[in-house]
Amino acid sequence: MQKKRLLFFIVCVVLCIQFSAVSAQNGDVVGTARYTDIVAYVNNRPIASYNVNGYTVIVAEELVHYGFLVEWNESDRFLWIVRNPEAETIEGMSGVCSYGQHDGLKYADILETDIRTYVNGNQVTGFNIGGQTMIYLNSLTCVGVVKWNAEDRAAELVLGGISMIEKPPVYEGEIPYEVDPYRPMVALTFDDGPFPYTTERILDTLQYYNSRATFYVVGSNVRAYPEIAKRLGEQNMQIGSHTFNHIKLTEASDGVIAEEIIATDQATREVIGVGTSTMRPPYWVSNERVRRVAGLPVVTWSVDTLDWQNKNADVIFDTVVNNVRDGDIVLMHDTMNCTADAVARMVPALIDAGFQLVTVEEMAAARGWTLEPGVLYSKIY
Ligand code: NI
Repeated sequence: MQKKRLLFFIVCVVLCIQFSAVSAQNGDVVGTARYTDIVAYVNNRPIASYNVNGYTVIVAEELVHYGFLVEWNESDRFLWIVRNPEAETIEGMSGVCSYGQHDGLKYADILETDIRTYVNGNQVTGFNIGGQTMIYLNSLTCVGVVKWNAEDRAAELVLGGISMIEKPPVYEGEIPYEVDPYRPMVALTFDDGPFPYTTERILDTLQYYNSRATFYVVGSNVRAYPEIAKRLGEQNMQIGSHTFNHIKLTEASDGVIAEEIIATDQATREVIGVGTSTMRPPYWVSNERVRRVAGLPVVTWSVDTLDWQNKNADVIFDTVVNNVRDGDIVLMHDTMNCTADAVARMVPALIDAGFQLVTVEEMAAARGWTLEPGVLYSKIY
């Protein structure tokens, strides 16, 4: 899917340049938003956040999922945010992808906005980041308490009168990771990474829940983001090959196919410390020749989230949770924030439903299967 992503990226860059150019005429650009390593929570439920000038900002509209009413007044162009008096619990996230958070757009320009924003009647600073209104988390101190947890680098808004959601325990290695072959299991798989922020968010979730997955990495990304790649190894994820340059293998010569597989294997051995023991061909095209030359078991999937197409965390979540069965292999991409959003909810939901989240090879081993080179596997049942 990289070509599509690249195209989208270029379109976004062009749009951004045009957008910035228009605003620059008015001297409007006030800064740059960037991803943050600070996690923001509202009553223990994570909320997407950015770093603007060193402060944590959140998308104002997302607050509807956190016990707020957010009303847009079209004629006077203002957002009216108040605590929802009916809200007793936080319902959960909408999971809509936020602009600037996916498809390689790490940075987004902040534009001044003509939209005024009010929290409980008090006007607060609002930003326009790619058409969305963002506010400082600190703007919500009039409705709750904002606490800073330095140890976890977390900014937490605590609202009274709305039930708390238990934060998942951080796995610190005390609980042994074991696969019980007699219990249901599923293999989550992620293509195209490693990728900044999104892969890390997915690893955070897997770490919280002491779970594993399989990452079909692009060799060039392993070289480009070695620190994130290393984390895959540290958390015992299975590493598979998605080629070095994300090419269509059916159109490549035998020599190029072999080079792509070897270069990826070398990259993962050097950076992560483990080689690639299975492969997934880019664009999901392979043939007998590709499989023979590549010489690895080919792993496809039995549940396709189509995350690259729908870009909607709710759809991704529902597709998996409503369809998955023991032995399934789930296809996702660790390059998109909506997928990371979905995974944050999917992992605990699958565990609650009785599934163990394991790697493809662990699932095969647990069921007594040996994955043979050149053979195609879409599920382990
Ligand atoms: Ni791909």
